[in-house]
Amino acid sequence: MLTGNVTLLTGGGSGLGRALVERFLREGARVGVLEHSPEKAARLETDFGDAVAVTVGDVSSAADNVSAVSRTRKAFGKLDTFIGNAGLWDFGKALLDLPAEAWPAAFDQLFRVNVQGYLLGARASVEALRETGGSMIFTLSNAAFHPGGGGPLYVAAKHAIRGLITQLAWELENVVRVNGVAPGAMSTELSGLPALDQDGVTLRGTIESIGGEDAFATMIGRPRLPRPEDYVGAYVLLASDQSRTTTGTVFETHGMLGAPAKS
Ligand SMILES: NC(=O)c1ccc[n+]([C@@H]2O[C@H](COP(=O)([O-])OP(=O)(O)OC[C@H]3O[C@@H](n4cnc5c(N)ncnc54)[C@H](O)[C@@H]3O)[C@@H](O)[C@H]2O)c1
Repeated sequence: MLTGNVTLLTGGGSGLGRALVERFLREGARVGVLEHSPEKAARLETDFGDAVAVTVGDVSSAADNVSAVSRTRKAFGKLDTFIGNAGLWDFGKALLDLPAEAWPAAFDQLFRVNVQGYLLGARASVEALRETGGSMIFTLSNAAFHPGGGGPLYVAAKHAIRGLITQLAWELENVVRVNGVAPGAMSTELSGLPALDQDGVTLRGTIESIGGEDAFATMIGRPRLPRPEDYVGAYVLLASDQSRTTTGTVFETHGMLGAPAKS
């Protein structure tokens, strides 16, 4: 479905991003990745060779986004799809869990990656996407629609991306399509914020500490915990020509019709 497509995706080193790299390659695309972790970047190069063009960098840096676009175009000649995906989590830190003076640093760390990162990726890729009539796709979450998928920082950031999609789809109408995918919970290396003393804490580690995927699925009211690869089909569809009239939408793949029960 994606033969000849060239995609640049952020946070492709693990979790959903890594599943997207694998699926897009299987669909016939060539893939650029902007990834923060040098170890994960090296693993991508070892596993996929010349089919991927990896840039080690930070999505919150304008220059690193520009470098990733350049590297992808140099390797594969053009850019058809930009996927903003790299993100951090707040592990559900609630308003009353922190004193007022602790919030600004946490806000900066989460919004710099989860919102500024997508904005800068869009800015860096837009001219290349205009040349191909391409599209942008942003990873959201059930937290973009419902409470309880994080604390106020994460939920607000994912709601902000809905606004970004609406605005960019309007600004770029007839030029570049802009859509989102909202997956739900999965066991990944989704990481916390240093400002919340969550350095090195991952969602997978937390899931293991409460008894594994089945126990976690029960806790959040799911029959089983989906895997990252369960969520990637919507990205393939939105990146493909089959979605050529689709812009300004969010494909809700999280499978939840409401918020999870309060613990
Ligand atoms: N895991 C879940 O339950 C879940 C649910 C809904 C939505 N999401 C969303 O899925 C997306 C991917 O997260 P994941 O769960 O696969 O986590 P993950 O940590 O496994 O993957 C994120 C990747 O982004 C990279 N990254 C982090 N900060 C970066 C930065 N500043 N610059 C460049 N790369 C950076 C990480 O090294 C990692 O490879 C995020 O946007 C997350 O909010 C996750």
